[in-house]
Amino acid sequence: MSDVTIHTTEELEKQNEYTELLKDILYFRYNNSQPKALVRTYGCQQNVADSEKLKGMLEKMGCALTEDTEEADMIFFNTCAVREHAEDRVFGNVGALKRLKQKKPSLLIGLCGCMMEQEHIAARIYKSFPYVGLVFGTHVIHRFPELIYHAVTTGKRFVERGTDDGKIYEGIPIHRDGSFKGWLPIMYGCDNFCTYCIVPYVRGRERSRRPSVVLDEARQMISAGYKEITLLGQNVNSYGKGLDEQTSFAGLLQSVSDMEGDFWVRFMTSHPKDASAGLIDVIADNSKICSHLHLPFQSGSDRILKRMNRSYDTARYLEIVNYAKSRIPDLSLTSDVIVGFPGETYEDFQKTLDLIREVEFTSLFTFIYSPRVGTPAAKMDDPIPYEEKSKWFSELLKVQEEIAAKRCMSMVGKTYRVLIEEQAKNGILNARTQNNIIVELQGSPDMVGNFAYAEVTEAKNWILRGRLIDKP
Ligand code: SAH
Ligand code: SF4
Ligand code: F3S
Repeated sequence: MSDVTIHTTEELEKQNEYTELLKDILYFRYNNSQPKALVRTYGCQQNVADSEKLKGMLEKMGCALTEDTEEADMIFFNTCAVREHAEDRVFGNVGALKRLKQKKPSLLIGLCGCMMEQEHIAARIYKSFPYVGLVFGTHVIHRFPELIYHAVTTGKRFVERGTDDGKIYEGIPIHRDGSFKGWLPIMYGCDNFCTYCIVPYVRGRERSRRPSVVLDEARQMISAGYKEITLLGQNVNSYGKGLDEQTSFAGLLQSVSDMEGDFWVRFMTSHPKDASAGLIDVIADNSKICSHLHLPFQSGSDRILKRMNRSYDTARYLEIVNYAKSRIPDLSLTSDVIVGFPGETYEDFQKTLDLIREVEFTSLFTFIYSPRVGTPAAKMDDPIPYEEKSKWFSELLKVQEEIAAKRCMSMVGKTYRVLIEEQAKNGILNARTQNNIIVELQGSPDMVGNFAYAEVTEAKNWILRGRLIDKP
């Protein structure tokens, strides 16, 4: 067995004991009634998956989950540190909790997640928000019951962070938010140290879950009726490094899609430096693996990619993209891009636009560079003012909008298998194609959570409208 993985042994048994104690303690603390707990998630799917564990543990403590801050007895914010804007939102929302704490002194407010793994942030929270009772980082979520126990039994404020032991704790209970779309983390942390990025500092070293554990969880999800499983990691293509068994991401993906049942598999995020032709072949050859590749390129300038420490150049990026396009008909490519990295010139930025025009992404997640304390890029010279970067940003959005509109137009008249995800407020059903595009449909709400076939009848910029049809 790999030494990174710990199963439901000593540590989790200890946590189970705290959980048992908390059932009574919390019940009495909250007026002899079932305590209500709120978990709000900021940031990426890694945090969403962590929140599902926090919620799972809270349920085992006897709590009911709520979304309503007014009725909550315990509030936890699972925070994101990736850009300043994400952090500002958390600070603002924590400030707004002061009034609730005054009204209900027994309210327990806890902050966790990536922001809390930064020393200066944890210190600021502790100082500026005295009504926050519990602060803990990403590496100790398996000890959540113990942390709550200490907070409520001592009445003291608790900070627990900065303790990456490099291990994976399996066996934590999970409350999945969705009943037919689910997240499945296959690895944690990141070792890439892109010079702008805080993730490796707040999430620790990259480690992979054992294939047998991932496959067991996938099997459970499929038998519970999940129709879409998304395999998660910061860099899924390096899955398996450090494990005893010989394994690869392409192999894992193949094994999940080989499982019996009618379901789709997605994954994110792929790093271009490790994306292999073998991976593309697995996607191309398995109909359950969605024809969508999220492949962040970050910049179209080789000079900037080097300064970002991304370990590929645009030629390598285009090589993998072109191979994927040649092997996967209807492939949808999406990407992340940063505008205004320190030292980026307008000429560099134009190369980013060139790459966007050449690849024709379905959609882009676009960010203006945000300096992160402790990262190498934050110390680089950054002469371009923010206003100028904002102008470049708008220019990029315009280019992408035209491409997205064209991409959507090309889907009109075609038929797709879709997963019906929700009924919107206006009664329309929102469905998603394998290549990750939303199609609006008229239909009965009891179709939500099921596959169907849709013919696309209309494209409005990047929204598609269609009609349900029988199997073609
Ligand atoms: N592991 C993933 C990305 C995780 S963070 C990958 O490597 O692709 C999601 C995105 O946020 C990144 O792809 C990047 O585009 C953006 N991002 C990260 N740090 C940033 C920063 N300091 N400023 C602006 N955008 C940033
Ligand atoms: Fe951040 Fe780079 Fe790791 Fe992605 S691969 S999480 S951008 S350091
Ligand atoms: Fe944010 Fe942490 Fe994800 S910093 S983007 S929530 S890994």
